[in-house]
Amino acid sequence: MDEPFQTILTSYEGKREEIIPILQEVQESYSFLSETAMQDIAKFTRVPASQVYGIATFYAQFRFTPKGKQHVMVCRGTACHVNGAPRVLEETETQLGILEGETSDDGEYSLETVACIGACSLAPTVMINNAVHAKITKKKVASLFKKAKT
Ligand code: FES
Repeated sequence: MDEPFQTILTSYEGKREEIIPILQEVQESYSFLSETAMQDIAKFTRVPASQVYGIATFYAQFRFTPKGKQHVMVCRGTACHVNGAPRVLEETETQLGILEGETSDDGEYSLETVACIGACSLAPTVMINNAVHAKITKKKVASLFKKAKT
């Protein structure tokens, strides 16, 4: 257990009901939940690791792979959905060679979908790190990730 992880745990008592806040804080610090982290949380809360894993996988907010250098979020909210988000997601997966929830082997890209990024008038949208890309088409996806295929 590394020091930042131990520091996170010091603000908790090890109660079962603290599992979700601990998972959230660990993910905030490390960008994802590793198997080791979940085992450590299980020991700390005296809950079987399988249950901690079960809790974590129940919630869409948790990631089990590290974020890529470029974290891509395809919006799947209503406004984006009716304006072609499913096609945008499909094309993004094709261009990056990874599926939703995955990270490329070289660690360059990670991909996830989000409920709404708060820019519905620009739908459909894609966010790469902190930059919002508006009115995305299949063609725009291809140009956004041209480098990913080279
Ligand atoms: S639904 Fe996509 S930005 Fe709101």
